[in-house]
Amino acid sequence: MRKVGFVGWRGMVGSVLMERMRSENDFSGFEPVFFTTSQAGKPGPDVGIGAQPLEDAMNIDKLAEMDIILSCQGGDYTTAVYEKLRSRWDGYWIDAASTLRMSEDSIIVLDPVNRDVIDAGLQNGVKNYIGGNCTVSLMMLALGGLFEKDMIEWITSMTYQAASGSGAKNMRELLTQMGELETEVSDLLADPYSAILDIDSKVTAKMNSDSLSKENWGVPLAGSLIPWIDKAVDDGQTKEEWKGFVETNKILGNTADSSIPVDGQCVRIGSMRCHSQAFTIKLKKDIPLAEIEAIIADHNEWVKVVPNNKEATLQDLTPMKTSGTLTIPVGRIRKLNMGPEYLTAFTVGDQLLWGAAEPVRRMLNITLK
Ligand code: HSE
Repeated sequence: MRKVGFVGWRGMVGSVLMERMRSENDFSGFEPVFFTTSQAGKPGPDVGIGAQPLEDAMNIDKLAEMDIILSCQGGDYTTAVYEKLRSRWDGYWIDAASTLRMSEDSIIVLDPVNRDVIDAGLQNGVKNYIGGNCTVSLMMLALGGLFEKDMIEWITSMTYQAASGSGAKNMRELLTQMGELETEVSDLLADPYSAILDIDSKVTAKMNSDSLSKENWGVPLAGSLIPWIDKAVDDGQTKEEWKGFVETNKILGNTADSSIPVDGQCVRIGSMRCHSQAFTIKLKKDIPLAEIEAIIADHNEWVKVVPNNKEATLQDLTPMKTSGTLTIPVGRIRKLNMGPEYLTAFTVGDQLLWGAAEPVRRMLNITLK
């Protein structure tokens, strides 16, 4: 029976992965081995065969006994162990972290979109299968039909990214900030005759003061936003924005000549775990809106076209509605004033599910088949 090593299964993405694997009854047909970076020897989780002692995630000999390793431990771990392990190990490395994403010997996995690329990789002996950047994966699931039919000349994605993309501590700090701002003005809020501009100036003063918790964000996110995600790359672009182009085209298996231009601005907002994106798409030709909606809706079982009216939008096209689900709503679909080839759409997706855990969960199952 093949041995599958799990690393980072207790963190936020790892916990979502474990939950999904349990609910899909994935823990069968292989021997799971749970690794830890801090608690070797302690009992691991019981996934149906009794709790086994945790193995040391830095023990290369032990890792090398695995047929497949699935890591949600993060990029620093991958950097620390991967090369040492790979020099003497031929197993499959499936990883949610970005470290190996753009390596020539890796494939970015998003099987509802690039199953053909994955299958070709498996056949050709590729051993590294890496989950994509969350906004990229969520965009491609939302617009998979348009990509598949090669209808896109270029695309911009303006993102509204959730706190979860920065990690658990940041999610907590967002809520702490919200609470601190409310506390600052709770007496004024309780008085229906208080002046809103007084409330606003107290909130603004609190945001500007050192007493607001901002150890993780560095600045207030509650009541504000952060139009910068990750580090700077070239020409004023952020790394998150850079990923939009390189990862989209790698997922599609495009060459430099067939690449689709993708760019935009990535912005952090105060939602918990759903990333949203507003697209401007230049189509290769004018296609009727009804046809476009059908192509989007038919691409995969998770994408749902939301009618472009207020009621449906407020009901179904929000982080609140999408959070904790695999549904990828796409709405606000319409042609722009710029001309009939210019399309706009808005989408939402759970950053921890399709944005992180689900593509690697599915890749594990594909590898085990
Ligand atoms: N880079 C993403 C974000 C999360 O900061 O929201 C990981 O894909």
